[in-house]
Amino acid sequence: MTKHKTWRLGVAGLGTVGTGLLTFLADHAKYAPAGGQAVVTGVSARSRSRPRPFDISGLPWVDDPVALATSAEIDIFVELIGGSDGPAKAAVEAALGAGKPVVTANKALIAEHGAELAVLAEAKGVPLLFEAAVMGGVPAVKIVREALVGDDIRSIAGILNGTCNFILTEMEATGRSFGEVLGEAQRLGYAEADPTMDVGGFDAAHKISILAALAFGCAPNFAAAEIEGIENVDLLDIQLARDLGYRIKLVASADRSSDGVLVRVHPSLAPLAHPLAQAGGALNALFIDGARTGRIFIQGPGAGAGPTAAAVAADIADVMTTGTRPVFQVPASQLEPFKPVDPAKSIGRAYLRLSVKDEPGVIAAVSETLAEAGVSIESFLQKPIENAPAILKGGVPIVLTTHAVAESVLKAAIERIAALPAVLDRPRLLRIARI
Ligand code: HSE
Repeated sequence: MTKHKTWRLGVAGLGTVGTGLLTFLADHAKYAPAGGQAVVTGVSARSRSRPRPFDISGLPWVDDPVALATSAEIDIFVELIGGSDGPAKAAVEAALGAGKPVVTANKALIAEHGAELAVLAEAKGVPLLFEAAVMGGVPAVKIVREALVGDDIRSIAGILNGTCNFILTEMEATGRSFGEVLGEAQRLGYAEADPTMDVGGFDAAHKISILAALAFGCAPNFAAAEIEGIENVDLLDIQLARDLGYRIKLVASADRSSDGVLVRVHPSLAPLAHPLAQAGGALNALFIDGARTGRIFIQGPGAGAGPTAAAVAADIADVMTTGTRPVFQVPASQLEPFKPVDPAKSIGRAYLRLSVKDEPGVIAAVSETLAEAGVSIESFLQKPIENAPAILKGGVPIVLTTHAVAESVLKAAIERIAALPAVLDRPRLLRIARI
């Protein structure tokens, strides 16, 4: 690559991350990795006039992001529009098709269309980089794709959504419900007006799908992820889990076995002293388990203008200073097809909360039913509750944890328990994280 070159950036999408990047570049006017210099020569967004924390009036404006992506005035296209389809996808395809390097923070785009975009990027011999798509300012993508390329990663698990982590942390700290904390987070601007991507677990699922592809050399396959969000996490379960020595976190995991790859996002229990349980507020945290290196733990801010723009700037520096690596660690033509594992076959420990009639023989009936179904109880807690919440439907809660059991066996046992006359509602199942 030419040394001391000026690299002209086209930036599409001027929300939190886009304006964060423009601020960073303005504050570092001579941002010059290896002597090259980055200058913004075009910007595009849905609205030109919307109030922003950065004044864009001095920057060349292009209405159509696809036109910006293919403009002769830019050398690198920076996509910060978001969304798996629509203008973001069209613009990234156009830029790659025109042989321009692309830097993006778009997790949905990479998780859902990463394999086909990798083919396009590699056919053109240009980089497609997405450090900011996963864990914001924490260099998770670089660690998995590059630093651990000499290892054989077996599993990845962690907290990949700061909004959910903030909500769960606040619920425990303040004793407020999911709805109350979400409402406050929205008022403060921490959570989106439509919080579905975050609280429904989809954002975390996009991120873990990308990490799975990088770690295991398979095509990303968001559609194969098993996803449960935090909308139904009840304060009662947070409190009961704590009594048992656990904290509830939204855990995203990817495991590889000889059967294939299992990608899941679930509210899960982590032991209170475990680093994932200790990662509070909006932090992200991740364990990577490699056959040679063992376990690596990384933690840091997974969102926000500063950290995410720093990750975008690092990718821009990579384009300016290095050659082109395969998009997903191995060349796109060698990516294995994603072979999903049936979640029913997965084995793990579980937390079950039941609402039962307070009468003789109920605990015996529950434990007999579990024994007959082949589920072994690890711990059992019955706790008198004052001002019992409505979800108990007039019953009292009993909570148990199980030893490791196949999910199919556990689900069958839950059906049998739900049918017991003394059980007033469907048992609440939460997984105990395998971390
Ligand atoms: N909305 C995400 C989060 C950050 O709450 O972690 C961007 O992916």
